[in-house]
Amino acid sequence: MRIWIGGLVLCCIAAGAVAQPDDVKITRKTVHSFYKSLNLLTPTPIVDAGDMATDKRRGGRKQPALKKIYGNDLAKQAFGQKAIPFPIGSVLINEKTESGRVTAIGIMVKRSARYDSAHGDWEYFFADNAGEFSNGRLAECIACHTQVKSEDYIFYPAAQPKP
Ligand code: HEC
Repeated sequence: MRIWIGGLVLCCIAAGAVAQPDDVKITRKTVHSFYKSLNLLTPTPIVDAGDMATDKRRGGRKQPALKKIYGNDLAKQAFGQKAIPFPIGSVLINEKTESGRVTAIGIMVKRSARYDSAHGDWEYFFADNAGEFSNGRLAECIACHTQVKSEDYIFYPAAQPKP
Protein backbone atom coordinates (compact mmCIF):
# COMPACT_ATOMS: atom_id res chain seq x y z
CA MET A 1 0.00 0.00 0.00
CA ARG A 2 2.77 2.41 0.96
CA ILE A 3 4.52 1.68 -2.31
CA TRP A 4 1.33 2.42 -4.22
CA ILE A 5 0.97 5.86 -2.53
CA GLY A 6 4.59 6.58 -3.34
CA GLY A 7 3.86 5.84 -6.97
CA LEU A 8 0.89 8.20 -6.93
CA VAL A 9 2.97 11.06 -5.49
CA LEU A 10 5.64 10.50 -8.12
CA CYS A 11 3.03 10.56 -10.86
CA CYS A 12 1.67 13.92 -9.67
CA ILE A 13 5.09 15.50 -9.42
CA ALA A 14 5.68 14.45 -13.02
CA ALA A 15 2.29 15.92 -14.08
CA GLY A 16 3.19 19.18 -12.33
CA ALA A 17 6.39 19.33 -14.33
CA VAL A 18 4.41 18.97 -17.56
CA ALA A 19 2.29 22.00 -16.61
CA GLN A 20 5.41 24.18 -16.68
CA PRO A 21 7.31 23.01 -19.73
CA ASP A 22 10.70 24.45 -20.56
CA ASP A 23 10.80 22.85 -23.98
CA VAL A 24 10.03 25.81 -26.25
CA LYS A 25 12.22 25.48 -29.34
CA ILE A 26 12.53 28.32 -31.83
CA THR A 27 14.85 27.97 -34.78
CA ARG A 28 15.98 30.11 -37.68
CA LYS A 29 13.41 28.22 -39.77
CA THR A 30 10.40 28.55 -37.45
CA VAL A 31 11.03 32.01 -35.99
CA HIS A 32 9.13 33.93 -38.71
CA SER A 33 5.92 31.92 -38.49
CA PHE A 34 5.46 29.96 -35.23
CA TYR A 35 3.88 32.85 -33.34
CA LYS A 36 1.15 33.71 -35.85
CA SER A 37 -1.17 31.13 -34.25
CA LEU A 38 -0.58 32.48 -30.72
CA ASN A 39 -2.66 35.16 -28.93
CA LEU A 40 -2.41 38.68 -30.30
CA LEU A 41 -2.21 40.75 -27.10
CA THR A 42 -2.33 44.18 -28.75
CA PRO A 43 -5.52 44.48 -30.87
CA THR A 44 -4.31 47.97 -31.77
CA PRO A 45 -0.63 48.01 -32.74
CA ILE A 46 1.73 50.09 -30.61
CA VAL A 47 2.92 53.13 -32.59
CA ASP A 48 6.61 53.58 -31.88
CA ALA A 49 7.36 57.20 -32.68
CA GLY A 50 10.88 56.68 -31.33
CA ASP A 51 11.55 54.30 -34.22
CA MET A 52 10.87 56.14 -37.49
CA ALA A 53 11.47 54.53 -40.88
CA THR A 54 11.13 55.76 -44.43
CA ASP A 55 7.85 54.60 -45.94
CA LYS A 56 8.41 53.97 -49.64
CA ARG A 57 4.66 53.71 -50.25
CA ARG A 58 4.12 57.22 -48.98
CA GLY A 59 6.65 59.10 -51.06
CA GLY A 60 9.50 58.43 -48.64
CA ARG A 61 7.81 60.12 -45.71
CA LYS A 62 8.98 59.04 -42.30
CA GLN A 63 6.50 56.73 -40.57
CA PRO A 64 6.69 55.28 -37.09
CA ALA A 65 7.27 51.54 -36.75
CA LEU A 66 4.27 49.51 -35.60
CA LYS A 67 4.62 46.84 -32.93
CA LYS A 68 2.34 43.89 -32.29
CA ILE A 69 2.82 41.78 -29.20
CA TYR A 70 1.86 38.11 -29.25
CA GLY A 71 1.94 35.64 -26.36
CA ASN A 72 1.29 31.96 -25.73
CA ASP A 73 -1.52 30.90 -23.38
CA LEU A 74 0.78 30.84 -20.32
CA ALA A 75 1.87 34.43 -20.92
CA LYS A 76 -1.68 35.58 -21.66
CA GLN A 77 -3.02 34.02 -18.45
CA ALA A 78 -0.20 35.56 -16.42
CA PHE A 79 -1.15 39.02 -17.74
CA GLY A 80 -4.81 38.40 -16.90
CA GLN A 81 -3.94 37.45 -13.33
CA LYS A 82 -1.15 40.04 -13.02
CA ALA A 83 1.05 37.11 -12.00
CA ILE A 84 4.70 38.02 -11.68
CA PRO A 85 7.11 36.38 -12.24
CA PHE A 86 5.80 34.80 -15.44
CA PRO A 87 5.55 30.99 -15.38
CA ILE A 88 8.27 28.89 -16.99
CA GLY A 89 7.39 28.32 -20.66
CA SER A 90 5.85 31.79 -21.15
CA VAL A 91 6.58 33.13 -24.63
CA LEU A 92 6.20 36.77 -25.73
CA ILE A 93 6.84 38.13 -29.21
CA ASN A 94 7.34 41.72 -30.34
CA GLU A 95 6.77 41.92 -34.11
CA LYS A 96 7.91 45.11 -35.82
CA THR A 97 6.32 46.32 -39.06
CA GLU A 98 7.75 49.09 -41.28
CA SER A 99 6.13 50.17 -44.54
CA GLY A 100 3.65 47.30 -44.22
CA ARG A 101 6.36 44.64 -43.95
CA VAL A 102 7.52 42.71 -40.91
CA THR A 103 11.14 43.73 -40.51
CA ALA A 104 12.15 42.38 -37.09
CA ILE A 105 10.99 39.98 -34.40
CA GLY A 106 12.09 39.99 -30.77
CA ILE A 107 11.11 37.08 -28.54
CA MET A 108 11.38 36.33 -24.83
CA VAL A 109 11.02 32.79 -23.45
CA LYS A 110 10.87 32.17 -19.70
CA ARG A 111 13.35 29.40 -18.92
CA SER A 112 13.87 27.34 -15.76
CA ALA A 113 15.45 28.87 -12.68
CA ARG A 114 19.22 29.30 -13.03
CA TYR A 115 19.07 29.87 -16.80
CA ASP A 116 19.98 33.50 -16.04
CA SER A 117 18.88 34.11 -12.47
CA ALA A 118 20.43 37.59 -12.35
CA HIS A 119 18.05 38.71 -15.14
CA GLY A 120 14.80 36.84 -14.58
CA ASP A 121 15.72 33.65 -16.50
CA TRP A 122 14.53 34.98 -19.88
CA GLU A 123 16.02 33.70 -23.13
CA TYR A 124 15.98 36.35 -25.86
CA PHE A 125 15.67 35.71 -29.59
CA PHE A 126 16.12 38.17 -32.45
CA ALA A 127 15.40 37.71 -36.13
CA ASP A 128 15.06 40.14 -39.02
CA ASN A 129 14.12 40.00 -42.67
CA ALA A 130 17.79 40.18 -43.71
CA GLY A 131 18.42 36.69 -42.32
CA GLU A 132 19.87 37.59 -38.94
CA PHE A 133 19.07 35.13 -36.14
CA SER A 134 20.49 35.15 -32.64
CA ASN A 135 19.41 33.86 -29.28
CA GLY A 136 20.51 33.39 -25.70
CA ARG A 137 21.24 35.82 -22.88
CA LEU A 138 21.47 38.72 -25.32
CA ALA A 139 23.15 41.60 -23.46
CA GLU A 140 21.65 44.37 -25.60
CA CYS A 141 18.10 43.18 -24.91
CA ILE A 142 18.75 42.67 -21.21
CA ALA A 143 20.25 46.17 -20.87
CA CYS A 144 17.03 47.88 -21.96
CA HIS A 145 14.49 45.44 -20.49
CA THR A 146 16.16 45.88 -17.08
CA GLN A 147 14.29 49.23 -16.94
CA VAL A 148 11.19 47.16 -16.15
CA LYS A 149 12.82 44.62 -13.85
CA SER A 150 9.98 45.15 -11.33
CA GLU A 151 7.53 43.91 -14.03
CA ASP A 152 9.66 40.78 -14.58
CA TYR A 153 11.44 42.57 -17.49
CA ILE A 154 8.23 42.99 -19.50
CA PHE A 155 7.19 46.41 -20.88
CA TYR A 156 3.69 45.40 -21.99
CA PRO A 157 1.12 46.48 -20.89
CA ALA A 158 3.03 49.54 -19.66
CA ALA A 159 3.73 50.17 -23.36
CA GLN A 160 0.03 50.04 -24.36
CA PRO A 161 -1.23 53.21 -26.03
CA LYS A 162 -3.36 55.17 -23.57
CA PRO A 163 -7.03 55.63 -24.61
C1 HEC B 1 16.08 50.40 -26.18
C2 HEC B 1 15.22 49.52 -25.43
C3 HEC B 1 14.93 48.11 -25.90
C4 HEC B 1 15.82 47.19 -26.40
C5 HEC B 1 17.31 47.34 -26.69
C6 HEC B 1 15.05 45.98 -26.59
N1 HEC B 1 13.74 46.17 -26.23
FE1 HEC B 1 12.26 44.77 -26.29
N2 HEC B 1 10.92 46.18 -25.80
C7 HEC B 1 11.19 47.51 -25.53
C8 HEC B 1 9.93 48.24 -25.36
C9 HEC B 1 9.80 49.72 -25.02
C10 HEC B 1 8.89 47.29 -25.54
C11 HEC B 1 7.37 47.55 -25.52
C12 HEC B 1 6.80 47.46 -26.93
C13 HEC B 1 7.45 48.44 -27.88
O1 HEC B 1 7.29 49.64 -27.71
O2 HEC B 1 8.15 47.96 -28.80
C14 HEC B 1 9.55 46.02 -25.79
C15 HEC B 1 8.87 44.83 -25.96
C16 HEC B 1 9.46 43.61 -26.16
C17 HEC B 1 8.77 42.34 -26.16
C18 HEC B 1 7.30 42.12 -25.80
C19 HEC B 1 7.18 41.94 -24.28
C20 HEC B 1 7.36 43.26 -23.53
O3 HEC B 1 8.39 43.43 -22.85
O4 HEC B 1 6.46 44.12 -23.64
C21 HEC B 1 9.69 41.39 -26.48
C22 HEC B 1 9.43 39.91 -26.62
C23 HEC B 1 10.95 42.06 -26.68
N3 HEC B 1 10.79 43.40 -26.46
C24 HEC B 1 12.13 41.42 -27.04
C25 HEC B 1 13.34 42.08 -27.20
C26 HEC B 1 14.56 41.43 -27.68
C27 HEC B 1 14.69 39.99 -28.10
C28 HEC B 1 15.53 42.39 -27.69
C29 HEC B 1 16.98 42.25 -28.14
C30 HEC B 1 17.20 41.80 -29.49
C31 HEC B 1 14.92 43.63 -27.22
N4 HEC B 1 13.61 43.40 -26.92
C32 HEC B 1 15.60 44.81 -27.09
C33 HEC B 1 12.44 48.06 -25.41
C34 HEC B 1 13.62 47.45 -25.81
